[in-house]
Amino acid sequence: MVKLDIVGTGPGSVDYVMPLARKIVSDAQIVIGAQRSLDLFNKDIPCETYVLTAKNLNELLKYAVESNRKGKAVVILSTGDPGFSGLLKTVLNTRLITLSEINVTPGISVIQVCAAKLGLSWDDACLFTFHQGNADVLKKTELIACLKAGKDIMLLPDAKAFAPKQIAAYLLDAGFSSDMVVFICENVTLSDERIVKSSLGSVSVLEFGTLCVMVIKAKCNSGNV
Ligand SMILES: C[S@@+](CC[C@H](N)C(=O)[O-])C[C@H]1O[C@@H](n2cnc3c(N)ncnc32)[C@H](O)[C@@H]1O
Repeated sequence: MVKLDIVGTGPGSVDYVMPLARKIVSDAQIVIGAQRSLDLFNKDIPCETYVLTAKNLNELLKYAVESNRKGKAVVILSTGDPGFSGLLKTVLNTRLITLSEINVTPGISVIQVCAAKLGLSWDDACLFTFHQGNADVLKKTELIACLKAGKDIMLLPDAKAFAPKQIAAYLLDAGFSSDMVVFICENVTLSDERIVKSSLGSVSVLEFGTLCVMVIKAKCNSGNV
């Protein structure tokens, strides 16, 4: 059985694409991914490619599974790591395919790169993704509980519904100090990368780009602070 490949492509720079990802893509017959993922493999893709968008997602995932069932080597590219706010869950949620038919190749998550750039040891940090409507009450409550427990937070905001500005306002409303240290890491690994050290109070009135990670320091005793 040929398994469906879901391959992590790293946070955006070609320097962070793993050699194994390139090998799998160069052996593929069909490659599907967001434009920014496909662009990382320009010379390595000798086959059919499809640009994945929010609109054609279901249709293309169905095509990927059907083609894979016919024996084709199909690769779905997922930015960062497929298992963190990535396409692994999306593909499994279609219920068209089971995990036993999938081969996941890890990629370097934007979370890992942010932690490295901030000199943050993240084994005790709490990770959240609020990406694309994932900001439900339960997760917001967990966010508060993690901060109260003294844990650092690394999170992917939702640019529309729960952007850094709204997250900061939510935490201020919950009683956290406006002096709390916050890092906003935008366009990580890209030519316009920007890492800003700020505070909860300042972030609550600032706008940031859609490609960003928010890091909230529970205590200012480690990392580049
Ligand atoms: C669908 S999630 C993908 C996360 C990915 N699976 C990972 O492990 O890095 C997309 C969100 O990740 C964050 N993101 C992805 N790439 C980024 C980058 N280069 N710089 C900053 N944030 C990024 C943004 O918050 C973006 O909205």
